[in-house]
Amino acid sequence: MAESEAASGAAPGTGEPSSAQGAGTVGILFVGDVVGGLGRRTLLDSLPVLRERHAPTFVVVNGENAAGGLGITPKIADQMFAAGVDAITLGNHTYHRREIWPYLDSEPRIVRPANFLRSQPGRGACVVESADGQRLGVVNLSGNLYLRAGRSAFTEIEVALGELGAVDHILVDVHAEATSEKVGLGWHLDGRVTAVVGTHTHVPTADARVLPGGTAYISDVGMTGPRGGVIGVKRELAIEAMRTKMPVRFEVSTEDPWLQGVLITTAEQPLRATAIETVHEPAAEVS
Ligand SMILES: [Fe+2]
Ligand SMILES: [Fe+2]
Repeated sequence: MAESEAASGAAPGTGEPSSAQGAGTVGILFVGDVVGGLGRRTLLDSLPVLRERHAPTFVVVNGENAAGGLGITPKIADQMFAAGVDAITLGNHTYHRREIWPYLDSEPRIVRPANFLRSQPGRGACVVESADGQRLGVVNLSGNLYLRAGRSAFTEIEVALGELGAVDHILVDVHAEATSEKVGLGWHLDGRVTAVVGTHTHVPTADARVLPGGTAYISDVGMTGPRGGVIGVKRELAIEAMRTKMPVRFEVSTEDPWLQGVLITTAEQPLRATAIETVHEPAAEVS
């Protein structure tokens, strides 16, 4: 059964689910880390259903695990764009597949963390435009705790925001391990961007809300792929590695695929949200 819960902001009663969007508001469907072929099929099967149900203006997907669990290829990214995905964000597995390196420089709708080194391929922010002319800025950040980003997320977000130019709304994907870092970035950006959404842990958190300044926030949206594994990996292999402390070749689990993400409803005022609701959808119900 589908799970969905709405969380509204500081003014109780002002947040409404997407079905109650007023004129001038925009819905943004953000989908958590797509894991492997099963995650891709879950995404592609679910999108038409979710479009009909929520009519999002923009769809943004984290694709850092889309190719066999690690990285993404140009073919997979093209497939997502063809399915109507407006922008793709990435994370610590950005460069796992070499063939994506030149694509990151040539395709403006895919972003890797903005606080990677400037010498690394790709860009950290992009702007996508809807058919009716709404402009959404998308920024990808990496946490600095337990991840190998070359520069500080807190300083580089200022540079990225400054480079976006005129936009109606901004979505920031904070790809990070530590919830403390994500919560800190949420507060740091409250009132300055439309949404700060966390990715990377593959486990959804229960803290979706609109912060007092009007920024929709969640520490982690979860993943799109097999819930029957250990954050996407076949559970017997993950358990073997943890139990024995020996190297184990990981494979993507094939059990119990779900789509996990959030739906953000924007305010008519630029760079503000009125609601964020979690979207947890078992693949079996939508395929
Ligand atoms: Fe991931
Ligand atoms: Fe990650």
